Amino acid sequence: MRSAIKNIGLLFTGQRVLKDVDLIIEDGQVVDIGSSELDGYDAAGNLVIPGFVDCHTHLVFAGDRAYELKLRLEGESYLSIAQKGGGIMKTVLKTRKASEEELFKTAQKRLKKAIRAGTTTIEIKSGYGLSLEDEIKILKVIKRLRDESPIDIVATFLGGHVVPEGVDRKRYLRIVTDEMLPRVREEDLADFCDVFCDEGAFTVSETETILTRAQELGFMLKVHAEELSHTGISSLAAEMGAVSCDHLNHITEDDLIRMEKNGTVAVLLPGTSFFLDSGKPPVTEIIKSGVDIAIATDYNPGTCPILSMPIILALGCLYYRMPITEVVRGVTRGGALGIGREDIGMLEKGSQADLIVFQVPDLINLVYNLDDDNIVAIFKKGVIIYHR
Ligand code: NIG
Ligand code: FE
Repeated sequence: MRSAIKNIGLLFTGQRVLKDVDLIIEDGQVVDIGSSELDGYDAAGNLVIPGFVDCHTHLVFAGDRAYELKLRLEGESYLSIAQKGGGIMKTVLKTRKASEEELFKTAQKRLKKAIRAGTTTIEIKSGYGLSLEDEIKILKVIKRLRDESPIDIVATFLGGHVVPEGVDRKRYLRIVTDEMLPRVREEDLADFCDVFCDEGAFTVSETETILTRAQELGFMLKVHAEELSHTGISSLAAEMGAVSCDHLNHITEDDLIRMEKNGTVAVLLPGTSFFLDSGKPPVTEIIKSGVDIAIATDYNPGTCPILSMPIILALGCLYYRMPITEVVRGVTRGGALGIGREDIGMLEKGSQADLIVFQVPDLINLVYNLDDDNIVAIFKKGVIIYHR
């Protein structure tokens, strides 16, 4: 059955801006843009954009790390906190102790909050288990979230987050490649494999080992790249056909050329740069290089407790100084490309009808009126899932 979203004052489709149009929807998809005689939802002259696609989160974990913020404000660095037993390992120990049910309950609450803020598709990584059993536990939580939530959820295996305390590096690498990856594939618990390649995490050659095995098993690839230092992993990952390289604070022109050539998406995470005060990527060079840009939250307990895409959107403009159209594209269409999805993050013919109605006159008001509750309605596959 056809329906319509009528009286849209301004429509950002993901690739163009249109004034005073109706969106015609059938079977959860946009089938036409124009004016329609059909009955439907009255958007009352407001702004409509595609639903946010948050293509980089670590949503499933136990506990918090507020005390680390205090330490960092006193001058301690993220790396030195991690070396003293804080950081990722702290969350791993808490997450291992939590039951699947406990993890599900807290993650579900977070997910509801994300949906309320306009996220209609989310990628969620494992990576706070770092043992076969605990990584599987987290991935099962993600699967259950996917089964019980109205939005699309994409799972990523991040067994290559850090080498867990008490396990020999080489041995852990073998556990990842010979035990975890095959098991995750067998149980069909993730589409992507990601690795944190950096100082304090995995080296380029270790990362290559994990990604190569993952690719053999049929996983699509992602990498936490060039965040704290330049390693060159983004060039290598791009040449392997990785879907995205994320963070990129220290990316070089050469890396960008390779990413552009291979269609690898640059996922920028302004919430992390802001919260960690860890420097910014060379945004102007990244835009100039012609790579597709996604903007996501990186929601996690250590480096970015921000789950709101509207706040991340504002940081993209105000903190990364990116043009508003580029940022809105980044949190919608860019995010979709960052998880290899052509059918979402856009509101053109054939796109999935995931959209947000904002009570603002223009795109720039998404930033200017950041502090207001601007969302009037959210649609997923043409069905209203939130209404003010
Ligand atoms: O994306 N960079 C690696 N992983 C997370 C941080 C995780 C943590 O500190 O708990 C990130 O920033
Ligand atoms: Fe991350």
